[in-house]
Amino acid sequence: MPEELQFPKPFLWGAATAAYQIEGAAAEDGRQESIWDTFCRIPGAVVDSHNGSSACDHYHRYSEDIALMKELNLGAYRFSVSWPRVRPDGGAANPRGLDFYSRLVDGLLEADIAPWLTLYHWDLPQILEDRGGWANRDTAYAFAEYAASVHERLGDRVRVWSTLNEPWCSAFLGYCSGVHAPGRQSRPDALAAMHHLLLGHGLAADELRRRDPQARLGLTLNLTVADPSDPADPVDVDAARRIDSQFNRVFLDPVFHGTYPADFLADVAPYGLERHIRPGDLELIGAPIDFLGVNYYHGESVTGHPVTDQLEAHNAPVQRPTASPYPAADNVAVMPRGLPTTAMGWEVQPEGLYRLLLRLQAEYAGPSGTALYVTENGAAYEDVVQADGSVQDTERLEFFRAHVAQCHRAIGAGVDLRGYFAWSLLDNFEWAWGYHKRFGLVRVDYATFERTVKASGRWFGRAAAANSITE
Ligand code: NOJ
Repeated sequence: MPEELQFPKPFLWGAATAAYQIEGAAAEDGRQESIWDTFCRIPGAVVDSHNGSSACDHYHRYSEDIALMKELNLGAYRFSVSWPRVRPDGGAANPRGLDFYSRLVDGLLEADIAPWLTLYHWDLPQILEDRGGWANRDTAYAFAEYAASVHERLGDRVRVWSTLNEPWCSAFLGYCSGVHAPGRQSRPDALAAMHHLLLGHGLAADELRRRDPQARLGLTLNLTVADPSDPADPVDVDAARRIDSQFNRVFLDPVFHGTYPADFLADVAPYGLERHIRPGDLELIGAPIDFLGVNYYHGESVTGHPVTDQLEAHNAPVQRPTASPYPAADNVAVMPRGLPTTAMGWEVQPEGLYRLLLRLQAEYAGPSGTALYVTENGAAYEDVVQADGSVQDTERLEFFRAHVAQCHRAIGAGVDLRGYFAWSLLDNFEWAWGYHKRFGLVRVDYATFERTVKASGRWFGRAAAANSITE
């Protein structure tokens, strides 16, 4: 007998997107270039030289997209604001750029959908990159000023604010492996960027807290579960420790405990991180937050032994020379363990989400009374459009079902998990993969911008309406 898994009330069902991935309208209303516009022009950086100039044309179709959210019974919509629309030249605010988000927020509120606003989902204004980007401490202060401009305009209506999305990617894919914009490959710069991103979080959260003590503030991290390939082998156990430090603890410890992990600091000692940490930084970074957003896609089984057969952990399209994104984990390899994989090559490991949530509750969120939300979870598959135009994406539907079931299990085990956001509302620009990887609950035809709700989207909409799933 299939079992019905009922979620507690209230439990938030939402979907997420990000500005550069969906908006398009790259040159409208005063927007200037971001690091992604520039990066997309580097030969081989993005598959088929795709870029976000038109993306899903959400900038012009946001009303239609809100109607889709309504159709899917979403209680919340997690979107990001484009910094280069709001402060295009790195300085004064651009009211026309803010107008768009004001219209979007009004539309969401009219539809009774809570706006969850992310300030930074990877689109740094190019002009700030020209001044050193996140490797330059000034960028953290510029970020807090940008946060103030957005709050000035939207603070009367937006109640939930997230500073950063996945700073791991911004720092280590952007400045270390070079797979993401700005495409730099420098370990010292990546570590400086990591600290300045966290500082930017602290400064922006402080700014928002002073302006709006009632706002709910947090940030979103991409977290993993690193298992040693052979738990009895100290080399593999150490490999798992390094991945855990470099992925999870290096963000969680400063945000929740106001310290960097000692083992991480030792592992990256040659790269000069410590000289960027100034008195007072960690107090700002470690100030209490109201929620932690968890982005979970997969865990990994890792080894410290040389191997020939390994999974590419961040599965970048190999088109140009890239470096390891792990300054603290040289020589660590991700081993396939026979699990099914998605079109990204990522293992499907729902039970990893359960273990991650339990750990976060016990070691981080629980002791500080911070609520947890899954702010992204989802999968890319090769979707097939049927003759009748429908998309029967059973694998994605089952991916969602399995992961949502693990969320239910975690709540049953005492985790204060308050909501789940699917990645993504729409098929969209999947960074270095361009439009080749589709994560949407809703299909986008990039020739016509026509939207079609997939079978997984219908399923998700039913789950949201019922506040339950059938396992
Ligand atoms: C996490 C990122 O936040 C999002 O932008 C990306 O599209 C998904 N992962 C899928 O890779």
